Amino acid sequence: MSGGKYDDCWLRYAENGTSKSYRERCSNVYASVEAPELGAVRDELRRGFRGLLGREPHFWQHPPRSADGFLAVGTPAEMEVVSDCVSSEAVESLDDEGFLIRTADWEGAEIVVVTASTDRGLVYGTFYLLRHMSLGRPLDSLDVVREPTNAERIVNHWDNPFRRSVERGYAGPSIFDFERLPDLRERYVDYARLLASVGINGIVVNNVNTQIPNRDGANEATNELGGWQLLETRYLEKLTGLAALFRRYGIRLYLSVNFGAPEKFGDLDTADPCDDRIEQWWAAKADEIHECIPDFGGFLVKADSEGQPGPYNYDADHVNGANVLARALEPHSGRVWWRAFVYDSHEDRAVQQYNTFEPLDGEFHENVTVQVKNGPIDFQPREPVSPVFGQMPETNLGLELQITGEYTGQHVHACYHVPMWKEVLEFDTDPEGRGRRVKNLFTEEGTGIAGVSGPGDDPNWTGHYLAQANLYGYGRLAWNPDLDDETITDEWVRQTFGDDPAVIETVTDIMHDSWPAVIDYTTGGLGLLHMMYNGEARLENHYDPSPEEWPGYHGATEDGIGKDRNSKGNGYTQQYPAALAAGYDDPETCPNELLLFFHHLPWEYELEDGRTVVQTLYDNCFAGAAEAERLRDEWNSLDGKIDDERFRHIAERFDEQVVQAERWRDTLVAFFYERSSVPDQRGRVPSADASDESGA
Ligand code: GCU
Repeated sequence: MSGGKYDDCWLRYAENGTSKSYRERCSNVYASVEAPELGAVRDELRRGFRGLLGREPHFWQHPPRSADGFLAVGTPAEMEVVSDCVSSEAVESLDDEGFLIRTADWEGAEIVVVTASTDRGLVYGTFYLLRHMSLGRPLDSLDVVREPTNAERIVNHWDNPFRRSVERGYAGPSIFDFERLPDLRERYVDYARLLASVGINGIVVNNVNTQIPNRDGANEATNELGGWQLLETRYLEKLTGLAALFRRYGIRLYLSVNFGAPEKFGDLDTADPCDDRIEQWWAAKADEIHECIPDFGGFLVKADSEGQPGPYNYDADHVNGANVLARALEPHSGRVWWRAFVYDSHEDRAVQQYNTFEPLDGEFHENVTVQVKNGPIDFQPREPVSPVFGQMPETNLGLELQITGEYTGQHVHACYHVPMWKEVLEFDTDPEGRGRRVKNLFTEEGTGIAGVSGPGDDPNWTGHYLAQANLYGYGRLAWNPDLDDETITDEWVRQTFGDDPAVIETVTDIMHDSWPAVIDYTTGGLGLLHMMYNGEARLENHYDPSPEEWPGYHGATEDGIGKDRNSKGNGYTQQYPAALAAGYDDPETCPNELLLFFHHLPWEYELEDGRTVVQTLYDNCFAGAAEAERLRDEWNSLDGKIDDERFRHIAERFDEQVVQAERWRDTLVAFFYERSSVPDQRGRVPSADASDESGA
């Protein structure tokens, strides 16, 4: 991998066709020196220019007299050059994280100015400039103003501090060696750089599962695996240095907390959110945390879900639970991210979140954000958008996406999530009403986007090299959800693989076609989901096919397949605003790709193109597996055009993907045939007739 042991990902800063002009314009840098963030700016410019210009820049404490001009990075308040070149009003009107980049003429020299009203803005401006240069774009006539659309842009690590394992992580152990803190490692800095370069401003460092249920189903916290102990004073002190490291890059540190923590620490016999002692306990804990980490981001809580304790344990509700934590954080800067991923024994978990949370609209404290997964089930390859979005107008909502590939091939398969996220973000939550797209719901203060992240200690960070694009794309979309996937992909491919047109074209195609292929061979493409093997409690595999295991999700019987989540069935469609509900409720108007999510239909129900449901399922499974093979061949065509190490790594993953895609295809089509007894019209699925014939 380039640049030493760990991969540089998209921050490779390779010299390109425009480097000569960069050398002329940027060999001299005049940058402010005061704040810690500015240290990060200088470090990054040094590193970036070493690659892009082929030499280290010369840093000045005053404007250099250079005929070729220079780069100036600073606030107008600190640097006269900057205030001479940009209007102070333009800078003052930027929000805290916004920045402005302009090419200007200053005392006869052509200079490039990066400015902002805060030091954090300068960090983002610097990374923007470096991206611009990595893409080989010219520096003449720059006039760029950028601000993030969403104020909160967070990654949620599901890292278990005491074993460094990562739940749903497919890239080795945790990046963080919690026990060795407060000592810091270069790798943490590199991770902060990667995150800041795409605009992430918050990191939850530990798993939402802060206690691991025992195998027998009891919910005992075990000291070995649980994460609630991070609230102990000893760990808070350890986290101080890590928080400072991230602060340099404008990233705030958050913790997942266990709702039962007051009780677990042993000094109280309850964690009842309505008990005054609990109120005081959380307030004191919040004070203590802020003493160690003054800009502490807040708490992320998974409560009353999958074995985690919550307010229900104390006859209280989610409002009581979230608000007691919110009041504790209120005197400080932090916020509570309260997850809506709550389900119990309800026979269809899709209906539960809306039923639980919508009635509570307007009751959550101002510094609570209710964090909702994109779909009502659980990060499946494709789900409808959760009906909670757009329907809790009086509540700060957060969108939770999964960056890691839990259900999309676990970083053995190539699966680019950006097109899926774009589909979610562009979704209109109420076409006949206020017409608010999902992407427009998180722009107000207190709302935001969270991504469940999977980077680990692997040298390439993400297990599958191409999965780096999901982290990249997540950050870019969290910053600006209006970006289209072509732009994001193009940026990522060029920064990661360079500017050979054949490579760009091939990698772009692969990225683009990877998600539909995974949908097809793992679901049949008509809205089925969760047909994977589970395994024992907390060891869920979620990788191999196992359709028999989950009759409740796919609803396959002799007479048909799918689940009646409609007004004939469990009424889930009615949770959506009228226009959407009506569209989903009728199989004739329901989009094909979600048809069996909403409807149980006869196997030979005819679709618009004349094919039956079962034939379409067969066809899609075959098409998906064939597509995996085509993508592998495309990748193999790059032999010799990409460095050997990356080429081979990805080629090996594709070989494995093709085998596993065939396994999925064969298992699913056999299952569909076994349940339906309808032969494949194209004769590919071994049928009873075929075996009779071969036996004859
Ligand atoms: C899924 C995932 C779990 C995770 C849970 C959550 O169920 O498989 O590992 O804990 O989501 O989001 O909390």
